[in-house]
Amino acid sequence: MDPKTKTPNQSEAVVADLMMPHQANGLRQPSVFGGVVLSMVDRGAALAAMRHAGGQVTTLSIDRVLFKEPIRVGDLVEIRSRVVWVGRTSMSVVAHVYAEQVSTGTRRHTNECWLTFVHLDEHGKPAPVPPLRLETAEDRALHEMAARRREQALSER
Ligand SMILES: CC(C)(COP(=O)(O)OP(=O)(O)OC[C@H]1O[C@@H](n2cnc3c(N)ncnc32)[C@H](O)[C@@H]1OP(=O)(O)O)[C@@H](O)C(=O)NCCC(=O)NCCS
Repeated sequence: MDPKTKTPNQSEAVVADLMMPHQANGLRQPSVFGGVVLSMVDRGAALAAMRHAGGQVTTLSIDRVLFKEPIRVGDLVEIRSRVVWVGRTSMSVVAHVYAEQVSTGTRRHTNECWLTFVHLDEHGKPAPVPPLRLETAEDRALHEMAARRREQALSER
């Protein structure tokens, strides 16, 4: 086996931040602005891709972002990302967003996001990524979903 092979678990990246008033949108019942969440997701997912690739990456696409529930100012937002599919130079990352009301410990799953990153060499050109080893049934299910998304993206190219 290629010694650089990694599992989805080995690329897992976790970032967390407390949501502040300046990050709210203008709604009458303010929630955190979607662009703030997107920015955090992009950075968190990039970390997972960097962990897998072992180098710098760039965002090729933010493929899907589902805002299931609003995030409130004062919530602790945690983003857990992992690489679930790899091609030659590209990687699919799934990022799950959780919002915790710290005073009560109530934790909600607010977003599921799919992103694609490309590993870049020192000249900024696409570079090969290490193989991915699937360990669990969930790994295999996410891998299959990512492969289908990739087929769809290529057919729309
Ligand atoms: C990402 C980038 C380097 C890819 O360049 P490119 O000329 O398309 O490179 P390639 O043709 O070698 O493709 C690289 C990978 O992306 C994949 N790809 C490119 N376009 C794609 C598309 N429309 N859909 C799905 N995959 C695509 C290729 O299949 C390839 O993956 P693989 O090696 O796993 O098969 C280039 O598009 C870029 O610089 N984009 C801007 C990135 C950016 O500014 N991001 C925001 C800031 S981080």
